Amino acid sequence: VGMKDFAGKKVLVTAGGTREAIDPVRFISNRSTGKMGYAIAEAARDRGAEVTLISGPTTLEAPRDVRKIEVESADEMFEAVKQEYLQADVVIKAAAVADYKPVVVTRQKIKKGPDSISLELTRNPDILEFLGQNKGDRILVGFAAETENLMENAQKKLKKKNLDLIVANDLTLEGAGFGVDTNVVKLLFADGRVIPLEKMPKRQVADIILDTILTLK
Ligand code: PMT
Repeated sequence: VGMKDFAGKKVLVTAGGTREAIDPVRFISNRSTGKMGYAIAEAARDRGAEVTLISGPTTLEAPRDVRKIEVESADEMFEAVKQEYLQADVVIKAAAVADYKPVVVTRQKIKKGPDSISLELTRNPDILEFLGQNKGDRILVGFAAETENLMENAQKKLKKKNLDLIVANDLTLEGAGFGVDTNVVKLLFADGRVIPLEKMPKRQVADIILDTILTLK
């Protein structure tokens, strides 16, 4: 039961962290569990949307009635997004995409050797920036996870990536951001409006994001 206020809408969600290979057994990643993105996918599904979920590796169960595409690296996520975004009315990027990847992925496992070794990294593509440049009449929602200067950094990302809405997680607060079942966020809009939300379950944050999307345009 409940409102099917997303009936007829196609929603693309990205979730989880990416893994950037170093060698056949090692990678660089981050603490994203996928909970926030999966909550959005489930909420959109429950509200009648046709949902595609592009997910990095997680331990979460695939939501039923959601088309799930599994990826590992930022490059793979970018390829999947490029395949899918044209069909979407709304794109929500909750994934924690690695900004950098190793320059070289060795074919063999790196052997233990000197006391200190270094790893050279290179920039990954910015998927959300690509989406912003190719937005058309889609609604584009990003996330920002920050440990300092939350509002300034989120505002910059909103502008630079041509978003309609950015969901800013304050990682300094208990019950916010990576791993936990709750989140504490502020919604920042392209027109400068800001809506601060109290701590609440990620599913409730997801529903408020969807409510907000319906007020845009
Ligand atoms: O998965 P959980 O454990 O539930 O945690 C949820 C979360 C904290 C991961 C999520 O709520 C969140 O904030 N996701 C975005 C985290 C992040 O990587 O933020 P960012 O400030 O680095 O990136 C800003 C935006 O650009 C994000 O929408 C991100 O998906 C996107 N991006 C970033 C880098 C890149 N190369 N490509 C991108 O598209």
